[in-house]
Amino acid sequence: MNHQDHVGLLKAAVPPGVATWADLGSGTGAFTLALADLLGPGARIVSVDRDGGALREQARTMGERFPEVALDQRQADFTGELQLPPLDGLLMANSLHFVRDKRELLPRLLGAIRPRGRFVLVEYDVDQGNPWVPYPVSFKAWRAMAGDLALLATRLAGRVPSRFLDSIYSAVSEVPSTPPARPGQGAFGTTIR
Ligand SMILES: C[S@@+](CC[C@H](N)C(=O)[O-])C[C@H]1O[C@@H](n2cnc3c(N)ncnc32)[C@H](O)[C@@H]1O
Repeated sequence: MNHQDHVGLLKAAVPPGVATWADLGSGTGAFTLALADLLGPGARIVSVDRDGGALREQARTMGERFPEVALDQRQADFTGELQLPPLDGLLMANSLHFVRDKRELLPRLLGAIRPRGRFVLVEYDVDQGNPWVPYPVSFKAWRAMAGDLALLATRLAGRVPSRFLDSIYSAVSEVPSTPPARPGQGAFGTTIR
């Protein structure tokens, strides 16, 4: 896949404009660059990966190609405490398949997205894992899980064939304007201590 393929996967999911997005498990930045291209000048991207070498390469390329987009890099484990700013959108591209217990992690991450903000997922369209893609989630399974997580309007935003595993899809969902909360719980069911 090249840059235009990455942009094509995100185009229907990412509206242009000055906005703050996060890219979790951003690696060398294939989709960080696509996000920057779609959002445009003045946008801010919080880019999280535990691989410092990949982040350095990403910073170089972003600086060369999209210097007018603010890149806020964090070398961190995205399953830990991240202190994310309020987000207009959150992208996970080929990184959620490393997380076995998605229903435990996602409510915490979704809590960082503003009401009516977006969650964008790029994943292989399979449910059977392998050593490189241990816990994938197909679009069908994701749509059901997104509904359980109270995300709205989950829809397919793009798809490309993959020689490695079936195809790669992108999906976009919206965060409700009133976060789902139950007694003793915050947004998305996170526990209030
Ligand atoms: C397959 S690469 C995808 C990179 C990029 N998003 C893309 O689609 O080209 C997965 C990335 O997620 C990162 N990653 C996996 N689990 C992580 C975790 N728990 N915390 C931070 N980064 C993680 C890896 O270091 C790697 O850079």
